[in-house]
Amino acid sequence: MIPPVQMQSPVIPPAASLRYRRALPMTTPHPTRLEIRPFDAPCGAEVRGLDLSQPLADADFAAIHRAHLDHHVLVFRDQRITPAQQVAFSRRFGPLQRHVLHQFALADHPEVLIVSNIRENGRPIGLGDAGHYWHSDLSYKERPSLGSMLLSIERPAAGGDTLFADQHLAFEHLPAALRAAIDGRRAEHWYLCKYAELQARSPWRPDLSPEQVAQVRPVAQPVVRTHPETGRRALFVSEHFTTRILGLPDDESRALLAELFAFSTQPAFVYRHAYAEADMVFWDNRSLLHLAGGTPDDQRRLLHRTTIEGDVPT
Ligand code: SIN
Repeated sequence: MIPPVQMQSPVIPPAASLRYRRALPMTTPHPTRLEIRPFDAPCGAEVRGLDLSQPLADADFAAIHRAHLDHHVLVFRDQRITPAQQVAFSRRFGPLQRHVLHQFALADHPEVLIVSNIRENGRPIGLGDAGHYWHSDLSYKERPSLGSMLLSIERPAAGGDTLFADQHLAFEHLPAALRAAIDGRRAEHWYLCKYAELQARSPWRPDLSPEQVAQVRPVAQPVVRTHPETGRRALFVSEHFTTRILGLPDDESRALLAELFAFSTQPAFVYRHAYAEADMVFWDNRSLLHLAGGTPDDQRRLLHRTTIEGDVPT
């Protein structure tokens, strides 16, 4: 049994008082009157006062960067931006990564993955079941993702939420016995871990070519990683991509992973994002797991995802 976690007071010092306001005029482009409003949730904040279709002032970039580290999920409302503008904003944080299923990238912007359940002429226009299991994006690469951005283009009348689980809190609340069991351990992450299961549910999922398989060979990652910018430790295993804990017998590894998956995604650590029209959501894959909450079959959902490359986890 997982002991329930009481979360009356936040572990992170409350950032509710943070305001990032600067006087005009300064440099070109001008910084805006930016406001960060934390959600009443274990993680997440809304960023107000920014139009992502405009060039970003260095001071605004610095404020967003800080807020991203503090809150792990940022929501920018009403961002009616083009793929080129999403790519330009994403690139401010680092080089972009392309998804191995290039079939679902935008033709003229290969860094943009189409996440959608929409079919045109019987064919899926995007990766309809992305995020079906809890995961951290591209944890199966040697350099997993720093963060990802999802721009909501078409949202369903019901469902379609994305859930985020704070893995710093998960690590900090981990029972001592579990902590001891994973101390110093590494685990294997593999893109194909659940692929056959997903293909059985979604037969439109393509088989991978030999070149694609070669891009996603299994990698070993620390079970607990240290955030390279804040120094906070976070659990770094997921139901979607972690196959086994290295150095343990199979049955022990399976049992331990099952405990970690259940513990790390319990509601006390989760912010659930229900999209408004043209929401842009930017999260930190070094701090969070995320999950697509599911969309009813008769509803259309379309988002554009960009993914920023991060460090080799330590
Ligand atoms: C993802 O895992 O990147 C997609 C999440 C979602 O569709 O809500």
